[in-house]
Amino acid sequence: MASIYKTNSLSHTVLLIDGNHFESSQLISPRIIEILKKKSKKDFKVFGIIDEHGNDIIVAPFVSKENRSAATLLEDVRTLGSVAQKVSVAVQLETISVASELSSELNFAFLEGFALTNYSFSKYKSNSSPQLKDIYVQENMLNDQAISTLNHIVKSVFYARDIVNEPLSGLNAKSLSGSAKSFSENVGIQYQELGIDTIRSLKMGGILGVNKGSLNDPTFTVLEWKPENAVNTNPIVLVGKGVVYDSGGYSIKVGDGMKTMKCDMGGAAAVFGSIYLAALEKLPLHIITIVPAVENMINEKAIVPGDILTISDGTTVEVLNTDAEGRLILSDALVYARQFNPEFVFDFATLTGAAMRALGSEGAAFMGTASQEIKDLVQAAAYYSHERVSEMPLWEEYAEQLKSDIADISNLGGPLAGAITAGKFLEHFTKYPWLHFDIAATAFLSHSSSYRLAGGTGTGIRLMLEFFKRYIANVQK
Ligand code: BES
Ligand code: ZN
Ligand code: ZN
Repeated sequence: MASIYKTNSLSHTVLLIDGNHFESSQLISPRIIEILKKKSKKDFKVFGIIDEHGNDIIVAPFVSKENRSAATLLEDVRTLGSVAQKVSVAVQLETISVASELSSELNFAFLEGFALTNYSFSKYKSNSSPQLKDIYVQENMLNDQAISTLNHIVKSVFYARDIVNEPLSGLNAKSLSGSAKSFSENVGIQYQELGIDTIRSLKMGGILGVNKGSLNDPTFTVLEWKPENAVNTNPIVLVGKGVVYDSGGYSIKVGDGMKTMKCDMGGAAAVFGSIYLAALEKLPLHIITIVPAVENMINEKAIVPGDILTISDGTTVEVLNTDAEGRLILSDALVYARQFNPEFVFDFATLTGAAMRALGSEGAAFMGTASQEIKDLVQAAAYYSHERVSEMPLWEEYAEQLKSDIADISNLGGPLAGAITAGKFLEHFTKYPWLHFDIAATAFLSHSSSYRLAGGTGTGIRLMLEFFKRYIANVQK
């Protein structure tokens, strides 16, 4: 991973300039000013050029469009950073040094977009695509704290991308938990893995049922970040769906449905990454992260449609579709969360194709019973980080669809409102303020979009960092 460092060197490769006032820029030479003068501001884009000393330089002119909100401006600059990274790689640079004449907030966004683009999952490639080794920034561009935050964001998001990109052959429930153990040790997070005997003795029938078709044991991981200066008395609990592979089970996925299903632990990646980042940033918050992890596979022991499972709170579930497995394992985790008397619980899950159809990959669906104040903080954080979310209702009528003739509840709703009926199912197991984030469409992309590269995105982590900051500020005021 390329880190971001400060430099007091005067030679800079990437020049981030104010495209609206480039004529008076101190960063670019008269020759570049002449080049820019010939173009219309609307056509400004990142370009590479050889300077008078024969060095490659990359000019990134930022032109703010009219009527942009503060949040969209930041996203525009992240995208500019992403383009600048691609141009830097295209001209075969190995390290770059960035100078800027923009505000530190915009500089942060530029470097965020740049650094998040500087990623590739290449461990299985004999010839990996080149990336920049190091990123240097001019002294006055950002303060030390901001640089360290940037490096922490990159570290935690890349961790999440790596585990989402890792196929089943390289990541099972045990190694997913192991990956959390590794980062926990370095940053003072308490790590606990319940083990199969405990999962059995707690009668976690959702987790055990979904995993029955697998040769590997499920895992149940509990992480705790509890700094002395925590501003919350009751913990914030994050729950993540850890289906390391979703074949659908006997309700097997058809066509290309299975092709990307290594991403079905994207919720786990989001909550592991979020607590990791909170710890790296030493946030004054008490956070507990819970990840139930399974493989949804088929063998002669696997559950079949029509089977009944008993969740750890005693609720019986008629499994009408073995492909609606996420809600089954999450229910055990949501029940487990009760013992912590949480301030509130957020769950992240690649839960439904319906959420994907509703919003596409432009945002995640969220829903739940947390206060309007918490929802507002989430919305503000979502726009700022550009990990956007849109709320769906949880009206009581939707629960009708989950009625079962022979069990307390069924795991399958009707053909409509599938993201909501999944949420409704989860709500049954919550006894605290709660929000559910359905990241089915945003956790894994088939095509790159700006700094959100094809493959695992690591979504949810930057959203949570912004949410945590706002929550802390809110408590302290
Ligand atoms: N993991 C899938 C949801 C999913 C789909 C995630 C596409 C990422 C991309 C989930 O377990 C699933 O299969 N859901 C079913 C539920 C249905 C059977 C009620 C779905 O959405 O089709
Ligand atoms: Zn499924
Ligand atoms: Zn799934």
